[in-house]
Amino acid sequence: MGRFTIVLPDRPVSSIDEWLDAGGGEGLARARDLGPEATIAELERSGLRGRGGAGFPIGTKWQTVRRAGGRHKYAVCNAAEGEPGTFKDRAILRANPYPVIEGLAIAALTLDAPEVFIALKASFSAERDRVTEAVTEMEQAGLVGDLSVGIVGGPEEYLFGEEKALLEVIEGNDPLPRWLPPYVHGLFATAPQLGWQAHEPEAGHTRGHESNPTAVNNAETLANVPHVLANGADWYRSIGTHDTPGTIVCTIVGDAERAGVVEVAAGTSLREVLTMFGAPRPGRRVRAIFSGVTNAPLTEAALDTPLAFETFAAAGSGLGAGGFIIYDDTACMVDVAAKMSRFLWVESCGQCPPCKLGTGAITGALDDIGAGRGSDASLETINHWLSVVADGNRCFLPVEEQQVIGSILRTFPADFDAHLQGTCTHEHRAVVPKLVDIVDGHAVIDENQSRKRPDWTYEP
Ligand SMILES: Cc1cc2nc3c(=O)[nH]c(=O)nc-3n(C[C@H](O)[C@H](O)[C@H](O)COP(=O)(O)O)c2cc1C
Ligand code: SF4
Repeated sequence: MGRFTIVLPDRPVSSIDEWLDAGGGEGLARARDLGPEATIAELERSGLRGRGGAGFPIGTKWQTVRRAGGRHKYAVCNAAEGEPGTFKDRAILRANPYPVIEGLAIAALTLDAPEVFIALKASFSAERDRVTEAVTEMEQAGLVGDLSVGIVGGPEEYLFGEEKALLEVIEGNDPLPRWLPPYVHGLFATAPQLGWQAHEPEAGHTRGHESNPTAVNNAETLANVPHVLANGADWYRSIGTHDTPGTIVCTIVGDAERAGVVEVAAGTSLREVLTMFGAPRPGRRVRAIFSGVTNAPLTEAALDTPLAFETFAAAGSGLGAGGFIIYDDTACMVDVAAKMSRFLWVESCGQCPPCKLGTGAITGALDDIGAGRGSDASLETINHWLSVVADGNRCFLPVEEQQVIGSILRTFPADFDAHLQGTCTHEHRAVVPKLVDIVDGHAVIDENQSRKRPDWTYEP
């Protein structure tokens, strides 16, 4: 257990020759030898699970897309990295973008997709330049054949990273999640259930029934694929745990001496990772650790939880995208709840009314409690909306609200009582760390986020 390098080298891999010297291209060659079915079987045997948050097995996803009907197939790399407290995909793309692109090329080969896309925020200019350069080098080296690799810059919205919204952005639309999952309603689809389309079809496409099943995978997930194929499923399974083979690239931010990104073998304890970054700070104790704004927090009593999907689930939380936001014993959890709820309210797109209305009502009640205007009625409002906020949801965002806010209420009831009685002595300084960069152990947080309004405009 502890530090282990598969996808995040200590020193950046700065040219295609360096990548080829390190075994680059071998995964793609093995996929060519194996053919699609055996490639998928090898990935299934490896147990590789998605690192974008849900931990979905890549072999199952690719098999579903491969077996789905449709004339065209696509593979997409999700490098939008919008989860607060997460910086690992950008760290990987900076340090070594080649295996991400090679993983995408293997997906294209396996799914028979002539075109793939890498979607990342337009503001990630360093990563975009690096990826563009690496794609050109790989094309010139003949590594990706005549595969067309599109690089798409998207908006700042949290929902851009949601896979159904990501496809909308690649098509040139706003980041509003569509109804059906990508393996049913893929890129540039014209399936009849979506209704009439005003715009002209993409080049090479007809107005006929095209569902275009699409595999969307996180950048870290794809970066693992060439290694799994080049070294074999047994090698991959020798690292990590039974249900989470391989490594986890973790981000640590918040109440720690340093912020940063580290790759560790799955199964390494959360405590060991926190210690690497000086958390908690001397004289302080950990109060709550959130994996992004998605799951229930872990408390100090759960610090020995191994980093793995199954152990985090068993502890009542979730591993998410491995981005950990730490709050120590100075933090008021009413304040944390209000800030996280506000983030989700602002980022909700409003296509499903209970989501936008509910996250807004919960945020208002939390603000009231935080400001000393709260009452038992505020708690009733929160509990009512938590029970319906995810009704008719197109995406997982309101479930995050239920999981995060519901668990804070259950875990820290004394903080709510203290606010209702006007006796809170904790600090009110929580921020939801939407990261712009991590420089020399310092997290650079997007300050625009605090000015963002629920209609996605910004206060001046
Ligand atoms: C609100 C929301 C935001 C998300 N943001 C990201 C993101 O920035 N990057 C990412 O890889 N996945 C994100 N996801 C998860 C994706 O929808 C999807 O599950 C993932 O890209 C699948 O890749 P994987 O199977 O390799 O994990 C988000 C999900 C939701 C609900
Ligand atoms: S659940 Fe919420 S964020 Fe997701 S599509 Fe509906 S309104 Fe938008």
